[in-house]
Amino acid sequence: MIGLRLVLIFLAPWFCLAQDYAPPRYNLSLDLLPEQRWEPVLKHYNYTEVKEVIDHVLDISLPKWVHAIIRPLADLELAFLVHEPYAGEIKGIARTLGVNVGDVVALNLCYEATAFCTSIIAQDNKGNVYHGRNLDYNFPDILRKVTMDLDFIQNGKVAYTGTTFLGYIGLWTGQKPYDFTISGDAREGGNWWENAISAFFKRSSPVSWLIRDALNDAKDFEAASLQLSKTPIIAETYYIIGGTQPKEGLVITRNRDGPADLWPLDPLRGVWFHVETNYDHWTTPPPFDDRRTPAIKALNATGQANINTDSLYKVLSVKPVMNLNTIYTTVMSAVNPEKYTTRIRNKI
Ligand SMILES: *[C@@H]1O[C@H](CO)[C@@H](O)[C@H](O)[C@H]1NC(C)=O
Ligand SMILES: *[C@@H]1O[C@H](CO)[C@@H](O)[C@H](O)[C@H]1NC(C)=O
Ligand SMILES: *[C@@H]1O[C@H](CO)[C@@H](O)[C@H](O)[C@H]1NC(C)=O
Repeated sequence: MIGLRLVLIFLAPWFCLAQDYAPPRYNLSLDLLPEQRWEPVLKHYNYTEVKEVIDHVLDISLPKWVHAIIRPLADLELAFLVHEPYAGEIKGIARTLGVNVGDVVALNLCYEATAFCTSIIAQDNKGNVYHGRNLDYNFPDILRKVTMDLDFIQNGKVAYTGTTFLGYIGLWTGQKPYDFTISGDAREGGNWWENAISAFFKRSSPVSWLIRDALNDAKDFEAASLQLSKTPIIAETYYIIGGTQPKEGLVITRNRDGPADLWPLDPLRGVWFHVETNYDHWTTPPPFDDRRTPAIKALNATGQANINTDSLYKVLSVKPVMNLNTIYTTVMSAVNPEKYTTRIRNKI
């Protein structure tokens, strides 16, 4: 008895530190009106606490001048600034929570900035394509609590699946079953907010809304690649796409108005994976933030014959690919949609 207790005492802190867990998973019905579809999801949360989270996120991540411009304009000009269904969804979220429409718009721009991430696309030696990502952000403790997986339901079926934060209508990670998977990683630029806000006012799409649009609209890997390459967006980014057929893996380096570079997998020449963090693949990452080299080493050690969603998860768990800011890891493979798995990374 005493022995067992001692063992438990020794093990307990380790368990607390190391435990990863699945976020909640909800259905969001696309058959409901945009204004109504988020309420069944929001109902699972305490609105008082959600409002506190929103205030806090706006306070720490949004420059005051942005809030001062966006808030009144979004209230008055939502239909002009934001296309459907997103305008309706934002209105519905604001009404359900009892917050200002402008604050929900502002919240939806907050996570567009400076997300540090790692995405990996890989093909095994049988031609199966796997896709994984870590999403890192600089206030992970708050965001871990509001991360969720969502199945977007249309006509009784899963039209697409994605991972997002409460109140955030865009997707940084998503899957269209039997078609393709997408993740997005931020590409740093100077004057981020100035450029993003002016592009938003010209009605360019937020980066994560375009991912959701592609999941919603594109019929296959090629159509998704085209849509993600050419549609104007408010900030530079990397889009990583995986398909269902051999060689269907692509990293798109995006400027605001079009593609800067397309980087496909080339398994016939031995290029069976790509790692994209937050630096152009043709440059060397800075030594203070090199998550690329450790990820490549881990993939090399895994080997093409052994790559799958489980081994990819392990690669994404190697330090510093996973780090103190890692909120969640998702692994997926469009040909096996039930493999879509997100885990909240608690601590390292
Ligand atoms: C919601 O959260 C607030 C603040 O933490 C708390 O005072 C309140 O009791 C909670 N409401 C419910 C229904 O749990
Ligand atoms: C979500 O929708 C799917 C498809 O209609 C259904 O099979 C499943 O039971 C739903 N899940 C929940 C939790 O309602
Ligand atoms: C990974 O393997 C490739 C091919 O053998 C090699 O060229 C590359 O240097 C290796 N990279 C690392 C970081 O180990």
